[in-house]
Formats: sequence, C-alpha cells, structure tokens
Amino acid sequence: MLPWFNEGRFPLVLAPMAGFTDVVFRELCKREGADVLVSEFVMANRFLDPDGEVNAWETVDFTEAQRPMGVQLFGSDGSKMGEAARRIVDRLAPDFIDLNFGCPAPKVVDNCAGSSLLRDLPRLASVARGVVGAVGARVPVTAKIRIGWDDRSIVATEAARLLEGEGIGALTVHGRTKVQGYQGAARWDVIESVAAAVGIPVVGNGGIESAEDVADRLPSTGVRGFMVGRAALGYPWIFREIKGYLETGTVPPEPPLEERWATILWYCDTLMRHTLRPGRWDRLQWMRARLKSFTKRMPGCRRLRPALDRVETYDDLRALAADYLGDRGADLAAFADSVEQSRGALATHHAPRAGASAELHASAAEAHGH
Ligand SMILES: Cc1cc2nc3c(=O)[nH]c(=O)nc-3n(C[C@H](O)[C@H](O)[C@H](O)COP(=O)(O)O)c2cc1C
Repeated sequence: MLPWFNEGRFPLVLAPMAGFTDVVFRELCKREGADVLVSEFVMANRFLDPDGEVNAWETVDFTEAQRPMGVQLFGSDGSKMGEAARRIVDRLAPDFIDLNFGCPAPKVVDNCAGSSLLRDLPRLASVARGVVGAVGARVPVTAKIRIGWDDRSIVATEAARLLEGEGIGALTVHGRTKVQGYQGAARWDVIESVAAAVGIPVVGNGGIESAEDVADRLPSTGVRGFMVGRAALGYPWIFREIKGYLETGTVPPEPPLEERWATILWYCDTLMRHTLRPGRWDRLQWMRARLKSFTKRMPGCRRLRPALDRVETYDDLRALAADYLGDRGADLAAFADSVEQSRGALATHHAPRAGASAELHASAAEAHGH
C-alpha cells in the first residue's frame, strides 16, 4: 500500500495541470494543505536524450518538502516509457511515477497516447507493464484515467482491473470522457463503481469546487482520496478550506487581499529565479496566464485580467499590486516580508540561485551542452 493511504489517511491531491502546476505553485499548495503532488505530464521520450532536455527536467523538478511527489509521464511505448522512468528515478527519486491515460489534447491523442489508450486497452496494459517492469521494484507506479472515450464506451472499470493486474499501485479516475473534455458534470457514479471493483486505492477527480463538494461526496463514493484541479488554479487556499471544513464543519475565511498579492509576488519572483529556460528571467509574458489565474475570487478580477496581460516585469506587477490595494497597499510590504520569511527560498533538485540571472543563463547553457 502506498504510505499516503495508510491508516485511514484520506489524501487531497493537487491535480497535474500543464502550464500551471509548476514547482513554485505546487509549493504553495503543499503549504496550504495538499497532501500529494504530481508534476505536469511530460512526454517520456523527452527524457531519453542522454543529457536530458532542460525544459523536461524543469517541469518535473520538486523540493523535498513536496513529497510525496509523483512525476507524470505520457507516451505509447512501454519500453521507452520504462527507460524514461528509470532515468527519472535514478536522478530525482520521486515517490511515484504516474502514467497519463487521460489527456484529450489532439497532439497527444494523435500519438496514440493519453486518452487514446482508453480505446486500445491492450496497449494501455502494455505501457503499464513496461513501466512497472522498469521501476516497479523501486517506486510505486500509479495511473490516471478518464472514464472512457465517449458516453458509449465507458471502460473505466475494465481499464482499472487491467491496470491493477499489471501492478499499478493506485489509480486516479477523472469522471469525464475524452469527448467531454473539461465540460459537463463528472460521473461520480462511475468513479464509485471503479472504487468498488478494484483493491487498489482509487482517487476521485472531477468538478470539486469547494469544501462542501468534498464533504458531500465523502460518504458515498468509496474513494480513498480526492484530486482537486481547476478549483486550485490560482487559489491554493482551497486545500486549507477543505481541510478546515472537514475538521471543524466551518470553512476558514478567505485570505485577505494583501496576503493574496504578497503570494502572487512571491510566486512570480520565485518562479523567475527557478526557471532553467533561457529568456524567461526578465520578461513575464510567459507567466501571464498563471498570474491571471490568481485573480479568481478577487473583487474586480475583470479589470485585473487585462491589466495583467500588460505586465512585462516584476516591477510592473508590484506597481499593479500597489494600485489595486490603494490605501491598503502599505500593508503589502509587511505581508510580503512575512510571506518571504515563512516561505523562504525553494531548494529544488535543480536548485538555482539567489541573485543574478547571468548565473542561471550559464547553467542553462551548460545543461544545453553549450
Ligand atoms: C490547464 C489544464 C492542464 C491539465 N494538464 C494535465 C496534465 O498534465 N496531466 C493530467 O493528468 N491531467 C491534466 N489536466 C486534467 C486535470 O488534472 C484534472 O483531471 C481535470 O482538470 C479535472 O479536474 P477538475 O474538474 O477538478 O478541474 C489538466 C487540466 C487543465 C485544466
């Protein structure tokens, strides 16, 4: 049994979300109560280059505090995926390797990976077999599926049984089909059937938006944990709210706006320091979608989003925070200090620096073999 399910524990898992759940955002969620974290998915082949690809390694980077931490892979060839998993385990020793059998994106599906494997269960099983054979003696291998390709092909229970037979240690079920994408209700009845059909822990995922949603589903579904996706985007405090509600029956108050801005600034600054990718240290364009996600539940978010689309530098972001907070802006500095002190710097496996981007530039160039 994976230890985070032991002794009746009921983990809250941050869903992997490509382009959002980077190492810094995961750290925020961990500190607000997420129990288990998973990297964004990465194509297994990208780890097969002898030196590795800097972007791929950056995506799966994590801190020790983030354990238990999984690295999620996608692909369609069990032996290549097994080899990629072996390299990741050698280098980073994550707590588990997770296999993506749910992504609906055309570029993934067209490569016979992600959710397309729900239409080819023998191949899905062979991918699991390849990875379990390569690293299963060293770390647990888990998987994440959707319930099927479309309404007429709900295969979650069959897939779950096959995966269990191949040695998969836990399964997350996203209760939507590939055709649904991210729309419509998640089928928690199907998730419930899967949980009843297999002996491995099943984590339920899909449409959890609040602490009350978790409490409502808890008694009926038979799942052993919940995974929270979009409700956590830009709002890591959702985990604190869920835990607080489950423990006391009351949802804790939302963080004050000063704390939210201090968190956004810390996130931005820390992420810039941590990126290994050249050209990302000074200009914030690449981070705007992530920054905009933090405006969820903020008064005036409609006005803020276009303003965030214009920020180019960290100083622009600070000025926007001061402008937004107006009279309350004076408190931002105090909050920023306390956030900085309580969160400190991040020590990741690819631990970058405090200070000059020139150093980062050199290390990234080295990683690229220049
Ligand atoms: C922007 C975005 C990126 C995602 N990236 C991944 C991914 O890399 N791997 C994965 O297994 N699922 C991915 N998902 C799916 C989520 O993990 C989750 O299953 C889905 O959002 C349903 O949960 P929710 O209704 O709580 O959002 C992504 C979803 C979103 C919205």
